[in-house]
Amino acid sequence: MILKFLILHGPNLNLLGKREPAIYGSQTLDDINSSLLELSAELRSELSFFQSNSEGELINAIQAAAEDCHGILINPAAYTHSSIAIRDALSAVGLPTVEVHLSNIHRRETFRHISMVAPVAVGQICGFGSDSYLLGLRALSNYVKNSL
Ligand code: DQA
Repeated sequence: MILKFLILHGPNLNLLGKREPAIYGSQTLDDINSSLLELSAELRSELSFFQSNSEGELINAIQAAAEDCHGILINPAAYTHSSIAIRDALSAVGLPTVEVHLSNIHRRETFRHISMVAPVAVGQICGFGSDSYLLGLRALSNYVKNSL
């Protein structure tokens, strides 16, 4: 069975590559998505990708994933720390979700230590740069396969 996962990128992640590279690295969002696609072939899964700077569009994508996805890999970016609406959407849809961050949010400013999403996620991976996404996809895929 081919599993389908939604890869969701929150605000400002479209700027990766030129955005504060000392914190977020030099890879672009396209680079990260390409690495995820390579991994998905190994995992025999299918991916769809969505990035938005708008909270409502991210919520719409989460709701739409309920139709045809087995899980969600999300970097909610700054909405991690503020969006009860994104957390509620994830909770409502109930798909297994893995939260990822390029930076280690727990080593940064205190306002980044809190995640609204973490309590409704299977787990959180942060601090490994673009590898956080790859580790996250592998973990999500294993989690879903083990719960079939
Ligand atoms: C981020 C961490 C967030 O605190 C920040 O607002 C981002 C990116 C990360 O991937 O490290 O935009 O989610």
